[in-house]
Amino acid sequence: MKLSRQSVVVVGGSLGIGYAVAELAKRQGAEVTLLARNAERLRRAAESLGGVRHAVADFGNEAAVNRAFAELPAVHHVYVAAGTAMPGGFLDRSVDDAMASFVERVWGSAYVLRAAAPKIPPGGSVTLTGGVSTDRPFPGAWSTVLGTATAEQLARVMALELAPIRVNAVSPGYTDTPMWDRLLGGDRDAVLAGVAAKLPTGRIATPEEVAEAVLLLMTNGSITGEVIHVDGGGRLV
Ligand SMILES: NC(=O)c1ccc[n+]([C@@H]2O[C@H](COP(=O)([O-])OP(=O)(O)OC[C@H]3O[C@@H](n4cnc5c(N)ncnc54)[C@H](OP(=O)(O)O)[C@@H]3O)[C@@H](O)[C@H]2O)c1
Repeated sequence: MKLSRQSVVVVGGSLGIGYAVAELAKRQGAEVTLLARNAERLRRAAESLGGVRHAVADFGNEAAVNRAFAELPAVHHVYVAAGTAMPGGFLDRSVDDAMASFVERVWGSAYVLRAAAPKIPPGGSVTLTGGVSTDRPFPGAWSTVLGTATAEQLARVMALELAPIRVNAVSPGYTDTPMWDRLLGGDRDAVLAGVAAKLPTGRIATPEEVAEAVLLLMTNGSITGEVIHVDGGGRLV
């Protein structure tokens, strides 16, 4: 029970990696709060975790983020899973349109850090989310690639700005979450099987495996400014 009586906020906690972090933190004794946009999905997630605290908030909306954190009595650890993957080639849409996903992720992470920091005691933590594309960029989602890479660097600089609060990032490779249902539709299984075949581990990660890395970042008091990779060796191939 490494998180006994600790308050853990998961921004983007109703699905995928965020939900897995919430579930694991709760199993470790944490009092969990979920934030996300879709109220019905959030309600279902909170209920399946045994009725945890939850609130609708878009992390790209500073006022909504401030309101959600103001209502919390205490915050020890925060995990930011929220972020939109925006597919599309560089020449397909205007720079302003494409950068919406970058702005949402980077501004949103900064809003969360600013709202949470005054409430987090020394040694508490914030974990942001990057991605394997920082080291292995791919075409077809350029602003998202910039966004996750910036989130990793934001964690490193905030580890200095906000010390002694610890700030880290988890960098997932391809992970089996509902995000791929939305992005790939009926091609999902074939595309992910193709990716898995090239990985040293021979399979893509589960959300629970990424969550285990996030829990390590929350609970190890000497880790800060770190980017931990859970990518099946994807950076090497
Ligand atoms: N899955 C992968 O292979 C992979 C790989 C590398 C990086 N990542 C990154 O890891 C993170 C989690 O990915 P995932 O696959 O678990 O995604 P997911 O299954 O789509 O879940 C995303 C969660 O974030 C919430 N969310 C999205 N935008 C939000 C916003 N603006 N404000 C508040 N909540 C928001 C969603 O709920 P609502 O939609 O209701 O808000 C949902 O709870 C993302 O940042 C993603 O880019 C994923």
